[in-house]
Amino acid sequence: MRELIQIQNLDKIYVNGKIEVHALKSIDLSISEGEFVAIMGTSGSGKSTLMNILGCLDRPSGGRYLLDGIDTREQSDDELSYIRNQKIGFIFQSFNLVPRTSALHNVELPMVYGRVSAEERRRRALSLLESVGLGERYMHMPNELSGGQKQRVAIARALANNPPIILADEPTGNLDSKSSIEIMEIFTKLNRENGNTIIVVTHEPDIAEFTDRIISFKDGRIIEDRPAERGKVSGKEGLPCNC
Ligand SMILES: Nc1ncnc2c1ncn2[C@@H]1O[C@H](COP(=O)(O)OP(=O)(O)O)[C@@H](O)[C@H]1O
Ligand SMILES: [Mg+2]
Repeated sequence: MRELIQIQNLDKIYVNGKIEVHALKSIDLSISEGEFVAIMGTSGSGKSTLMNILGCLDRPSGGRYLLDGIDTREQSDDELSYIRNQKIGFIFQSFNLVPRTSALHNVELPMVYGRVSAEERRRRALSLLESVGLGERYMHMPNELSGGQKQRVAIARALANNPPIILADEPTGNLDSKSSIEIMEIFTKLNRENGNTIIVVTHEPDIAEFTDRIISFKDGRIIEDRPAERGKVSGKEGLPCNC
């Protein structure tokens, strides 16, 4: 399989005045097209810092990040924004939906920046909302939806431009266990059927076990990288997704 993400000797140091925080220390990591990966680790271990760099929202302080063969160091900020818009769908713990804006319009928004006609935007947004089980609720505002439903809108929005990569930073962090399982089932289906490469940050071992590979961080370093023990976690047996 083609390597979609290649990271070599990556460092990230945040500098605030005289205080420096070494958030990522000499990370080496490769992720192939079609992988489904969990990133675990205690709070402050560098998970979000890595996700922000993977998603081209931030740049490393040192080392190399090749995204689909493109050396991100050589790209301007505008070029990185374009790459992000085309290649990456983001999902956050706090949903980050636009308030007082319908589910439909939230999903349409990423397409406004592309060259998609209004009619096509609407058709695609409706179809994406249907695919996450929210076809009937497309006119609802975020505050009229449950946490699990908001996250499903956020997933539909992340898929708007059909990006090959999905990055989800603690997507189930604000959800009850039933909604968390539903979200992980959607990711599983996207990975298996649509072929998306998916990287999910989580604190919860049960959530990580939905994936195929678990990478653990501690103090800015990778301390473990192992296959998930699929099927061994209680509650996963018999789920309709065959995961
Ligand atoms: N913008 C920032 N400025 C300064 N320090 C930061 C910033 N973002 C994160 N950090 C620090 O970097 C370290 C890693 O943070 P983070 O990547 O958010 O960890 P995690 O997502 O694993 O909880 C922490 O010590 C955190 O305080
Ligand atoms: Mg974090």
